[in-house]
Amino acid sequence: MHLGFWEKLAKPIIGLSPMDGVSDAAFRYMTAKHGQPTVLITEFTNVEALNHGAVKALAAFIYDQVERPVVAQIYGSNPEAFYKAVFVAAELGFDGIDINMGCPSKAVSGNGAGAGLIRDPALAQEIIRICQKAIQDWANGKTLYEAEVHRDIIDYIESVQKGLMPDTFEAPARPHQENRPQKARSCIPFTPKRRLLPISIKTRIGYEKPVTAEWISTLLECKPANITLHGRTLRQMYTGEADWNEIAKAAKLVHAAGYGATILGNGDVKTLADAQKRIAETGVDGVLIGRATFGNPWIFSKQQTQHSINDRLSAAIEHTEKYTEIFGHEAGSFAPMKKHLGWYCSDFPNAKELRLKLMMANSLADVKNIIAEYESLNP
Ligand SMILES: Cc1cc2nc3c(=O)[nH]c(=O)nc-3n(C[C@H](O)[C@H](O)[C@H](O)COP(=O)(O)O)c2cc1C
Repeated sequence: MHLGFWEKLAKPIIGLSPMDGVSDAAFRYMTAKHGQPTVLITEFTNVEALNHGAVKALAAFIYDQVERPVVAQIYGSNPEAFYKAVFVAAELGFDGIDINMGCPSKAVSGNGAGAGLIRDPALAQEIIRICQKAIQDWANGKTLYEAEVHRDIIDYIESVQKGLMPDTFEAPARPHQENRPQKARSCIPFTPKRRLLPISIKTRIGYEKPVTAEWISTLLECKPANITLHGRTLRQMYTGEADWNEIAKAAKLVHAAGYGATILGNGDVKTLADAQKRIAETGVDGVLIGRATFGNPWIFSKQQTQHSINDRLSAAIEHTEKYTEIFGHEAGSFAPMKKHLGWYCSDFPNAKELRLKLMMANSLADVKNIIAEYESLNP
């Protein structure tokens, strides 16, 4: 058991929840810069994909130094693949590794991963323990080659460590594949410091119905550094309301375990004031905020000022600039940016017309032109 950065965080911890398809590197950069959450967690990445050399999956593991502490989230059901994925995250310089045991989607939980693990406590424990073993082996000097990480993934990691961020949509070119285009942008070269990184869990209160006490006790037997608990069952998906009474039960259990683990509550927190109220009522060490961050990177900021239309349009442009810098060299990759543009542009005069135009945008230049036109028509 190793608590790592989790035990050093100022409390209350108010962090950004991982959101697949939303909290990519550009979104996390904006949130870290404008809101400064206590901790950020990446979108989840499939351990099997990494195991099979899918370099594309590493797009989720791009991050900026401003995000620290930043945690890599992984999911799957194959313990050996988890072992290797821990090496990947550690070599990429993350501050911690989070295991997803909460995703309700059929594609994930149907394969026994994500919230599917709530129904298989023995496998859930095996996965936590193999991740803890992996980080110990990595801290003791075991290499990516010795851990048998896929060669394409090793090539990518070595490029990043040398200061070149290759295109994540294809495997980087190797010397014997000279014809393969090597697209890359620069990043800061680094050598990861081998140390024990904390392993944490993000999960739900149950599968069909709440089984909080039993499930949290099962997890605590493995001594994870942090547990984030979303107050819904898998069956609820995102419907109904998060049950903060169940989260309070879990907080008691985690603190009674007495080894210093933290617990974060999660579900339906809409403002900083909301977060503070939940923390006071339930005794959790903090919360993660998910959906309320859409179009609102300032949500974590202690100065809860009202943000003008101008602020929001400037943020939309800055976000697009960052997105383009990170992902722009990949043809046809503008679509994921559009939902963010829609979220920035709501609840102000003629926002709907602006949104419709932005949905047709395909580049930073398009976004800048559309926003400039809006500003000239709406002085
Ligand atoms: C679009 C979307 C993607 C999500 N992806 C992930 C994910 O990759 N990993 C994870 O642990 N939870 C994921 N979640 C769940 C959120 O992290 C969070 O637990 C949930 O949205 C409840 O918190 P909220 O009410 O503050 O949004 C996702 C949620 C949404 C809406």
